[in-house]
Amino acid sequence: MDYIDLRSDTVSQPTPAMREAMASAVLGDDVYGEDPTVNELEQQAAERFGKEAALFVTSGTMGNAVALLTHCKRGEEVIVGKDAHTVRYEVGGMAAMGGIMPYALPVQADGTFNLDEVRAAIRFPNDHFPTTRLICLENTHGGRAGIPVSKAFMDDIAQIARENNLLTHVDGARIFNAATALKTPVAELCENMDSVTFCLSKGLGAPVGSILVGKKAFIKEARRTRKMLGGGMRQAGILAAAGLIALNEHSTRLEQDHQNAQKLAHGLANIPGIRVDLSKVTTNFVFFDLTDEASLDAPTFSKRLNAEYNIRISPYPGYKSTFRAVTHLWITEQVVDQVLQAIREVLSA
Ligand SMILES: Cc1ncc(COP(=O)(O)O)c(C=O)c1O
Repeated sequence: MDYIDLRSDTVSQPTPAMREAMASAVLGDDVYGEDPTVNELEQQAAERFGKEAALFVTSGTMGNAVALLTHCKRGEEVIVGKDAHTVRYEVGGMAAMGGIMPYALPVQADGTFNLDEVRAAIRFPNDHFPTTRLICLENTHGGRAGIPVSKAFMDDIAQIARENNLLTHVDGARIFNAATALKTPVAELCENMDSVTFCLSKGLGAPVGSILVGKKAFIKEARRTRKMLGGGMRQAGILAAAGLIALNEHSTRLEQDHQNAQKLAHGLANIPGIRVDLSKVTTNFVFFDLTDEASLDAPTFSKRLNAEYNIRISPYPGYKSTFRAVTHLWITEQVVDQVLQAIREVLSA
């Protein structure tokens, strides 16, 4: 790549090994359940999560939509964070496609809910009320600077769900980042959750794809939901081949991304005109602000980094001078040094 892209971990391109695996993948028609590479990926993903079965889907958004529409009937309610990706950034899909009502709770600084608020949100049986069906978590929590959400909290939620006959789903787009930061295998972290979506195409570096894991009967029904949403893919093994490398090889290297995020954050904190809350850098997201001291405004800052240094970084949507820089497969230690040098130069000019 002749540019550096810090906007997201979705931007990395497939590695040469992925491209080779894609070129030589053995394929079949996955709608008939006959693509051996997809079947292999689904089986390995299920095993890795200690769940009975898995389903390959096009994206994190589709994984969440398939999960929510499979778990909930129309008119039922899901307890979910106000700042959750499923609420803020998925085009209202749960309501538009599934007729599902979000009961949106405040998300605390550590990505958790107040457990009393969760208990209070659960409807008791009454002819007037919607039925609460599901509690949906997000881990890592994107709306809280990518913080890994603790297993203790996930287990507390599972306990509340069990006591009230509810189901649980995790939007685990970056669950491997959470598992890495918490030093807890994904199977253990999610052992008490009914279903989990995770993305192969973010920190794990695959070009396309996410996976939904859960019980056999749930995944069987989720396959029908995926078909209904137009997500039945045919020779999808060409994508799953890259997914296997993402799952097996890249899921174990995320500590490197987290260390690079720390290096970037500490470097930024030493540059006049930049403010970073280092305590919030816990996985691969680095949020920082341009202060009033900075010699440039935010649009000029990103325009110059792009034009003069081939560095892509833009203000976080909805914020004037807050940036999110995300480390990933292509952001090595040397690239971090290059970025810091470029930012120093741009701000000192
Ligand atoms: C927490 C979270 N969930 C879900 C998604 C959706 O993933 P996709 O872009 O693959 O639809 C994202 C995307 O960034 C995300 O950050």
